[in-house]
Amino acid sequence: MSHEDFPTEEPAVVTCGLPYANGELHIGHLRTYVSGDAYARALEKLGQQTAFVSGSDMHGTPVAVNAEKEGVTPEEFALRHHEKYEETFPKFNVEFDNYGHTHDETNTELTQEFVRSWIANDHVFEKEIQVAWDPEADQPLPDRYVEGTCPYCGAKARGDECDEGCQRHLEPGEIEDPRSTLTGNPAEYRAREHEFLRLSDFQDYLKGFIDRLEGTSNARNQPREWIEGELQDLCITRDMDWGIDYPGEGKEDLVLYVWVDAPIEYVSSTKQYSERVGTDTFDWEAAWKDGAPEAGADDEADTEAWADADTGEIVHIIGRDIIQHHTVFWPSMLRGAGYNEPRAVMASGFVNLDGKAFSTSRNRAVWADDYLDEGFDPDLVRYYLTTTGGFQQDVDFSWEKFQERVNGELVGTLGNFVYRSLLFAARNYDGAPEAETSEEVEERIEEAIEEFEAAVNDYSLKEAGDTAISLAGFGNEYIQRNEPWNLVGEEPEQAEQVIYDCVQLAKAVAVLSAPILPGTAQTLWEQLGEDGTVDDAGLDACLESPNGEFDEPDELFEKIEDERVEELNAKLQERIEAATESDDQADTDEADADEAESEDIMSEDADIEPITDDRISFEEFQDLDIRVGEIEVAEPIEGADDLARLEVNIGTETRQIVAGIKQLHDLDALPGTKAIIVANLEKAELFGVESNGMLLAAGDEADILTTHGDSVPGTKVQ
Ligand code: MSP
Ligand code: ZN
Repeated sequence: MSHEDFPTEEPAVVTCGLPYANGELHIGHLRTYVSGDAYARALEKLGQQTAFVSGSDMHGTPVAVNAEKEGVTPEEFALRHHEKYEETFPKFNVEFDNYGHTHDETNTELTQEFVRSWIANDHVFEKEIQVAWDPEADQPLPDRYVEGTCPYCGAKARGDECDEGCQRHLEPGEIEDPRSTLTGNPAEYRAREHEFLRLSDFQDYLKGFIDRLEGTSNARNQPREWIEGELQDLCITRDMDWGIDYPGEGKEDLVLYVWVDAPIEYVSSTKQYSERVGTDTFDWEAAWKDGAPEAGADDEADTEAWADADTGEIVHIIGRDIIQHHTVFWPSMLRGAGYNEPRAVMASGFVNLDGKAFSTSRNRAVWADDYLDEGFDPDLVRYYLTTTGGFQQDVDFSWEKFQERVNGELVGTLGNFVYRSLLFAARNYDGAPEAETSEEVEERIEEAIEEFEAAVNDYSLKEAGDTAISLAGFGNEYIQRNEPWNLVGEEPEQAEQVIYDCVQLAKAVAVLSAPILPGTAQTLWEQLGEDGTVDDAGLDACLESPNGEFDEPDELFEKIEDERVEELNAKLQERIEAATESDDQADTDEADADEAESEDIMSEDADIEPITDDRISFEEFQDLDIRVGEIEVAEPIEGADDLARLEVNIGTETRQIVAGIKQLHDLDALPGTKAIIVANLEKAELFGVESNGMLLAAGDEADILTTHGDSVPGTKVQ
């Protein structure tokens, strides 16, 4: 990849996937916002000029549907949520430089300007397509007004996305067995004229783009298959009133598809920031436009042009469900209008509950407000969300794990080190004693700074967060080893040296932890008697002398007791059970409705196969050699729709196994997962790839069987 390391001379823009203004925020959403905020702060620590922006996603059918249910206008409905989000983010120390919304004037104008450029550059065409239509309501049914089956994976799909299955974007008319959500009737199809962005114009460009793209590997790997296959053109208009008007002549009844104006808000929000602070402070055009190769230039020869271009550094932070939008549609939209391309996409794994996705409608979630109502410091959940597991990994939210991280690293390591050091310093010297930092400590801090810089350039928040914790761990070891409490009387100078080193380390910990724990780091900064804010301190401050006078500190973190976790668990369990009941209820409701309408859509329960009467002997069972394995590599098999190639460690050796899980799992998240393998199945060749064993998985969704405890690879399953 051709990008220079951060910090660069060019301005950076860090964005977060816009929240739909149609519900409450939960801590799954917060994974995007907290990570974005932490990453933007981390870049600034490196000295990178950075704007951190987002806004509310006001359009789209979910907003229109929910507003209708409440009997208010979509605008009123969306604005209410927008205002709530604006209030909520700062409570999690998420401080956007600008937080706009997609319905404001800046975004309306800029969106129409983008579309006019595409039209002028000949990337838009008109086509008659079959759109879903409700015969009773006599109206077209865009997106969420239709439910049916995903044509790619067979999961239940809603409108424009297969949100419970393969996560693909679905074009109008693609959904199978469409049903109107307005009346519950089967939908009909009718011909309508719509406008399309010709994505195939960008196919060559996208191939180069994806090779240049930095960030997390899922953001490069997931779209490869689409970019290398035939790209489907993107329908950019909808038959609706709620949205931004399509700017073409004679098309007054069409609005733009929500995924057109939503990402453009990244640009609009940056523009608003520039307009507020002045272009001398931040120039949105320098970030988004200047230096970008001209639109419509020869796309195959582009990579070099991009490598030489002095363009801004755009970093998008999103959840893994919207990778396609950010790595296929959005770069094409930018390119078609002559804008700069994203430098990086960081796509996080999902936050789940009890192994299942959060569900707003079923109240299966840990809500942002609930967390705040419990009185926890926002920095705790920031730490949990940014450093539990790898960034691409899905995490199951659990209060035990939360407690473990808080009590272990925050209370036990960071809090403990800082408290004992500052207390000792305040009691004996009223602050930092007179000394200079020892060579050992200086070197250790330099190492931490280098690790922090490398982590930011690797887009790894976990590693960035680890630098502060491990520095504090070193501090604990240092103080323990040097026993300053035994030195004060006899060897006062040595005691001063040790404590000075510890105060220096505490100062460095404040600077390095600030991106992830901004509130706590500021408190520590004040405890240290430092001037200004820790936010304004760059990495250099880690080694600047800590000369403050200070009083005895308070502890930075409070331990979370087991009883507290039990209470929280009980509440959460109640919620999960209620949500599961409502799932069952929903299944029954659907089954009732389906029975009346059609025979072939059945509830999940009715799908279970009867148990076979044919018994096998114990000996026959023992013929199966079933083992615990650990997936080490998981990658798609090119050309095959469903197959993935796995390398699985089964203790004695690593086996290559082919499994039909390509569409059903995020392959990047699988390495490290335990899986159960039939090791003595005869070998087979699938798509030219040898499969030496079988991965066990349950049901149509290929739910991978794993272990409950910690059996090591090779353990026999019996
Ligand atoms: N409005 C679109 C994004 C448009 S970006 C131009 C959207 N909105 S959302 O409200 O559904 O999601 C907002 C952000 O939260 C997205 O980055 C999304 O990926 C993320 N997440 C939503 N639910 C999530 C989890 N349960 N876990 C982790 N991230 C999740 O998508
Ligand atoms: Zn699907």
